[in-house]
Amino acid sequence: MLPYLLLATLLSVCKGQNTTSYSNGLDFTYPYPVYFYNFTSQQQTLQMAYMDISPPQLHTNTLKGVIALLHGKNFCSATWNVTIDVLLKDGYRVIVPDQIGFCKSTKPVGYQFTLHQLALNTNNLLHSLGVASATIMGHSMGGMISSRYALMYPNETSRLVLVDPLGLENWFALGVPYQSIDASFAMELTTTYASLKSYQQLTYYAGNWLTSYDVWIAMLFSIYQGPLGRQFAFNMAQTTDMIFTSPVIYELPSLKVKSLLIIGDKDTTAIGSKWAPADIKPLLGHYNVLGPQVAAMVPNCTLLQFADLGHAPQIQDPVSFHKGLLDWLP
Ligand SMILES: *[C@@H]1O[C@H](CO)[C@@H](O)[C@H](O)[C@H]1NC(C)=O
Ligand SMILES: *[C@@H]1O[C@H](CO)[C@@H](O)[C@H](O)[C@H]1NC(C)=O
Ligand SMILES: *[C@@H]1O[C@H](CO)[C@@H](O)[C@H](O)[C@H]1NC(C)=O
Ligand SMILES: *[C@@H]1O[C@H](CO)[C@@H](O)[C@H](O)[C@H]1NC(C)=O
Ligand SMILES: *[C@@H]1O[C@H](CO)[C@@H](O)[C@H](O)[C@H]1NC(C)=O
Repeated sequence: MLPYLLLATLLSVCKGQNTTSYSNGLDFTYPYPVYFYNFTSQQQTLQMAYMDISPPQLHTNTLKGVIALLHGKNFCSATWNVTIDVLLKDGYRVIVPDQIGFCKSTKPVGYQFTLHQLALNTNNLLHSLGVASATIMGHSMGGMISSRYALMYPNETSRLVLVDPLGLENWFALGVPYQSIDASFAMELTTTYASLKSYQQLTYYAGNWLTSYDVWIAMLFSIYQGPLGRQFAFNMAQTTDMIFTSPVIYELPSLKVKSLLIIGDKDTTAIGSKWAPADIKPLLGHYNVLGPQVAAMVPNCTLLQFADLGHAPQIQDPVSFHKGLLDWLP
């Protein structure tokens, strides 16, 4: 591990690492140096935080390629820490952004969040780092952004990996009513450590909570509590709206890249299940059914199912998860 850290530290000098601890409202130490990509979008100057780690052997003949890891809505790039190390050891350069609105990136006022905009921002970040083509891997909301990314930039996506992605069904079409951003904001403002934890206990880990998961609740809750907490809560209401109103499911059959769909069968995540009527709730979020259904309609999609895992298989069973991932990657 030490060589990676040393190398990353040296590189940070040329990339303008920002060591401010409370970056954009999150005071949490990331496993590798954090850089900031400054850019203009929708008439605002924004900062996208990211990690960019290369294996120690920088020779092109040993570098397997670039892989970008996109975090989920209740996570940050730091949550990929175990996966980053596995991929480095396997010879990948790993780039891990925090999306705009999240974690150590800008919490903008008046930003129109769309999956397309977040995919575009991510693509621009990769271009700024000289990356013309990468494997894109996304978890949860990050999976939804990743599939949008692969649809927008098929010639720049080497492969696609979706880990319990959102967007395998259209919740509105299944009967979940629309909820306004204002109503979602009101819900966000009631967030407590206990409410975050009880939600994740229910849907994320198939009922098996380990104390090692607590750190991810603390990381997330600290943003709500931090100096930009209120703006973050509004951004979270906006991104809930983005996910709910932009179904990608109908376009997944058009994917042109080789993909791997990793599913924890016990996952029950569904946007809107919190406010869905009682008779609609049971219809939502059956990942054990959605996984095979979606894999069958996407050309060249490999399905990897874990019968006993929930929404975050990479955290719940890192050994099985990473073995399955590396077996499929070139
Ligand atoms: C990004 O912008 C911030 C100000 O918002 C500035 O302090 C920083 O130096 C910039 N970073 C780079 C790499 O240009
Ligand atoms: C680091 O980022 C913060 C915003 O998060 C900014 O206020 C500060 O000027 C930046 N510092 C440097 C040295 O880039
Ligand atoms: C991953 O990060 C978390 C939070 O900082 C830490 O508790 C955990 O030990 C890390 N795991 C590894 C393998 O680096
Ligand atoms: C992908 O296609 C776009 C236009 O369709 C082009 O601008 C871009 O350079 C291509 N990228 C690669 C890596 O071929
Ligand atoms: C699927 O894979 C086959 C064989 O590798 C290839 O010929 C075909 O073009 C691929 N289709 C898509 C949609 O990627």
